[in-house]
Amino acid sequence: MNDHTPTSLLDSDKRHLIHPLHHPNEHAHAHIFVEGKGAILRTADGTEYIDGLSALWNVNVGHGRKELADAAAEQMAKLAYASAYTGFSNEPAIRLAERIVNLCYGNMAAAYFTTSGAESNESAFKIARYYWKRMGKPNKVKIISRQYGYHGVTLAAMSATSLPGYHKMFGPLVPEFLQVAPPYQYRWPGNGDAGIGAADSVEAAIEEQGADTIAAVIAEPVMGAGGVIVPPPTYFPRLREICDRHNVLLIADEVITGFGRTGRWFALGHWGVQPDLMSFAKGVTSGYLPLGGVVVSKPVHQAMEDAPMDERFMHAATYSGHPACCAVGLRNIDILEREALPERAAVMGKKLLTSLETLRSLPIVGDVRGLGMMCGVELVEDQGSRKPAIGPGGRVVAEAMKRGLIIRQRGGGGTPVSGDSLCIAPPLMTPEATLDRLVNIVGESIQAVM
Ligand SMILES: Cc1ncc(COP(=O)(O)O)c(C=O)c1O
Repeated sequence: MNDHTPTSLLDSDKRHLIHPLHHPNEHAHAHIFVEGKGAILRTADGTEYIDGLSALWNVNVGHGRKELADAAAEQMAKLAYASAYTGFSNEPAIRLAERIVNLCYGNMAAAYFTTSGAESNESAFKIARYYWKRMGKPNKVKIISRQYGYHGVTLAAMSATSLPGYHKMFGPLVPEFLQVAPPYQYRWPGNGDAGIGAADSVEAAIEEQGADTIAAVIAEPVMGAGGVIVPPPTYFPRLREICDRHNVLLIADEVITGFGRTGRWFALGHWGVQPDLMSFAKGVTSGYLPLGGVVVSKPVHQAMEDAPMDERFMHAATYSGHPACCAVGLRNIDILEREALPERAAVMGKKLLTSLETLRSLPIVGDVRGLGMMCGVELVEDQGSRKPAIGPGGRVVAEAMKRGLIIRQRGGGGTPVSGDSLCIAPPLMTPEATLDRLVNIVGESIQAVM
């Protein structure tokens, strides 16, 4: 099948391939990527684009890293795959679990591997329920998440996700999942602190439902797909305190924020908080091979270690601990460390945010926010009233594409009602000049739409 021209490839794509979030109208003129180098992607017709979202917030070390391909090839030639089910193991999985546990939070003990973010969260929900059953509290099963949260689209992860578009054609949701207010300062009513208010709404839900029914709260440290919502500094310390007070586990969904994205290896450290479970994926391999996982705290790990045979952790997946994926994860962490990319994300992210702030001079730019190399620009009809702009986001993304920049947007609407938000998260190694170009293109694209 080497006889495809770009046109016949597109034709075959339209006939045979179902895409994530598929709709044929949006896929009429698909861009077929053929090559990536650093922060630049090239399509089959030779056009180059700045990858302003690190593909899907995942290519943290940038494209075209031959040493990651070498790590995969070396491991595949030696042992591409072997079962990691009980009684079996492999060196890359062991070494990567140890490395991640040591890199993340001080209270963490062990890691379970998956191959995606959604599977990581599914696993985290099951681990939370498992833990409470082991503790003699079998009714603690409910999962609290936040409006604008995105946790993946498998059935339970979709039920924790709170962006209505993801529910409409796939309901009903899994029972025992409930959603509360996000720490969304720009859309918080009145002059109150959204950090305190949103944490208190978690507590109100726990009290209303009964703490003895709640297994866990899941939260992205910075909400990504929901429009890059950075919590006020009060939020996570208070949420941690509430979870402790009510015996509820805190799951940090660090699928985007992990592995340097926010300017630290893992994001809750910004606020001095440790979770009980941490989901990860994406940046662990910078997307070079699929990998994810859940890191668990010492007490949760102990509950697995002490279990009688008939209460064993009966959760599994063929590709848990996949040797080739784990070998790539190890080499990716080598790169992040060697090039100090989390530290670079802190410094360059600040510069990126400062440049994006200049866009506030455009009348449809309402809010500009960010932490490290993840930023959001929310569009409004009117800066004074903050009336949400619903619709222009997609046009801004299209204008940016015309000018050689790929970004995404989160459509407006939702609860609380908000404007379209542009999401910007380039690779952590993106050169400063490319970041400047990115900001210019975002500005020009917004102006073109105005
Ligand atoms: C915070 C968060 N959690 C989970 C997921 C789901 O990951 P995946 O698409 O690998 O299932 C995503 C994907 O964007 C995400 O941003």
